Amino acid sequence: MIALSKIALVSAVALLGLGWAYQATRPPPPAILGAPGGPPISSPRIRLKDGRHLAYREEGVRRENARFRIVFIHGFSSTKESGFPVSQELVEQLGIYMLFFDRAGYGDSDANPKRCLKSDATDVEELADALQLGDRFYVVGCSVGGYPAWSCLKYIPNRLAGVALAAPAVNYWWPLPANVSRAAYGRLHARDRRTFWIAHHAPALLHAWLAQKWFRVSPIVRAERDAFTAKDWEILTALWRKQRESGQVDPAKATQQGTYESLCRDATILFGTWEFDPTEIENPFPDGEGGVSIWQGRQDKIVQVEIQRYVAQKLPWVRYHEHPEAGHALPDMDGIGDEIIRELLLGESELHQEPRAQDA
Ligand SMILES: *[C@@H]1O[C@H](CO)[C@@H](O)[C@H](O)[C@H]1NC(C)=O
Repeated sequence: MIALSKIALVSAVALLGLGWAYQATRPPPPAILGAPGGPPISSPRIRLKDGRHLAYREEGVRRENARFRIVFIHGFSSTKESGFPVSQELVEQLGIYMLFFDRAGYGDSDANPKRCLKSDATDVEELADALQLGDRFYVVGCSVGGYPAWSCLKYIPNRLAGVALAAPAVNYWWPLPANVSRAAYGRLHARDRRTFWIAHHAPALLHAWLAQKWFRVSPIVRAERDAFTAKDWEILTALWRKQRESGQVDPAKATQQGTYESLCRDATILFGTWEFDPTEIENPFPDGEGGVSIWQGRQDKIVQVEIQRYVAQKLPWVRYHEHPEAGHALPDMDGIGDEIIRELLLGESELHQEPRAQDA
């Protein structure tokens, strides 16, 4: 009798579990931009070949008068409104045109059910062509926006004038030496490890994992205090406050079409099995007509320095800048944003021509 009810109980639990898993793997219906009841579209957009639209925002000097044209790729749970910390002075001094856009599924850009490493690069290319940026343009990728920047290096190298990767995200499932991945993965919070593991091994369950309330998910995904150094937190909370107060950034806008098409796609592409190995990318500028740089904070708790160093060492043509005190908020530290842009556009030799802002 007891044994039987135990079996019944176990079966009932198993059935419930299966039912949950079945429900969980079904993606939620997307919120349709501009449709009745859906989020309104409030930005200029271009139409892509496959019919999707990408929303963009222009800043800096007028495109026609610009000496340099840069496309910026935003990070996780972000939008084109977050911008990049470059001073007006540098923008005018060098004549920089800046193009920000919402990545597919974020903000006012349509979701892409076929989104992948390659489509993220061709989105950048089509956007640049629609806005007539010319044969070659610069690309800056921040944090999770680093992986589409790697895709640009892989898939559209002949369109690039130079690339800067600022604290670019790393994938623990790239082909890495065991000691490197062990060191980096081991330093992650257990809750981050669990969430990243699901993104890689059971991507269909990620949405349900992030939505459930029984277990706490990753501090990195939630941008919680635990994911940052004390200095990061000081910089970022001040920045977020400023953005909120100025009304420039609406934090809810990034995921207004739902977290499935934005955050989940980001995480499952980033942590998936890549069809290329970044350490085998060929130098896009064999004649030195452009440069690729990686900027990394040694204290970064989100992007582990061991992997970044390994990637940079494997690519001798990458200019690697490691800041000893910085964490993940590296680009937002005093003067660093300008340094990144100056180095990208003028090269390393120009970097220390003038006193650095934090030394001044
Ligand atoms: C991994 O091992 C290699 C070769 O022994 C060594 O040079 C490197 O410093 C190690 N890396 C880490 C992160 O421990």
